[in-house]
Amino acid sequence: MPILKLIKPSEEYAEQIAEYRREFLANMACVKDDPAHNLKKIAGTSWLEKFENPLDWIQQCNTYESYDTIPNKKHTTGTQYMSVLEDSNKLIGMLAIRHELKGEEVINFGGHIGYSIRPSERRKGYAKEQLRLGLIKAKEHGLDRVLICCAETNEASKRTILANGGKFERKIYVEESKLWVDRYLVEL
Ligand SMILES: CC(C)(COP(=O)(O)OP(=O)(O)OC[C@H]1O[C@@H](n2cnc3c(N)ncnc32)[C@H](O)[C@@H]1OP(=O)(O)O)[C@@H](O)C(=O)NCCC(=O)NCCS
Repeated sequence: MPILKLIKPSEEYAEQIAEYRREFLANMACVKDDPAHNLKKIAGTSWLEKFENPLDWIQQCNTYESYDTIPNKKHTTGTQYMSVLEDSNKLIGMLAIRHELKGEEVINFGGHIGYSIRPSERRKGYAKEQLRLGLIKAKEHGLDRVLICCAETNEASKRTILANGGKFERKIYVEESKLWVDRYLVEL
């Protein structure tokens, strides 16, 4: 498998970020339903779906890294990563890490880490590798144990978590989305 690396969003990737968003929006089935907020979400992207201009999205990602700059102090700070191929810099996936769990929704079924792989690059093992790299970053952010959640029907995400040492903790029913969500813990 080609080598993946995790990097933070930056301007030189603006066109690829816009393309990533377009690819998801053109494949609505690949976008996670979030009826709780009446929108379609691109998992692990810090609300990329809302941003037509990738530069605005990059700026938002930067502001969420610290409580000094975060626009809404009720939200938790986090770091956005993109996974790109080491040789070509092609953007393959996105992974977001919350630095802490805060707020009922995040504590119950949001978890520390969210991710996605672009539809055209799926089933090549990238999600497993991306999460492996993400867990190393989570440890660098000072986390010792992370919560990762996925809909019980999301077989690909479930397998990605299990392949990275995830231990099933329990199921939780999310009333707003009428979905059962599986909670997994990974010791770092
Ligand atoms: C979930 C997702 C990240 C998986 O990406 P991927 O790069 O295709 O995954 P991988 O190739 O690394 O495969 C991971 C595992 O899932 C399995 N898998 C992948 N796609 C699958 C599918 N459609 N159905 C069943 N299993 C699948 C693989 O076989 C592999 O399992 P194995 O190691 O036991 O063989 C991707 O489908 C995605 O972006 N989905 C939308 C966003 C999302 O659901 N994010 C997770 C939110 S919790």
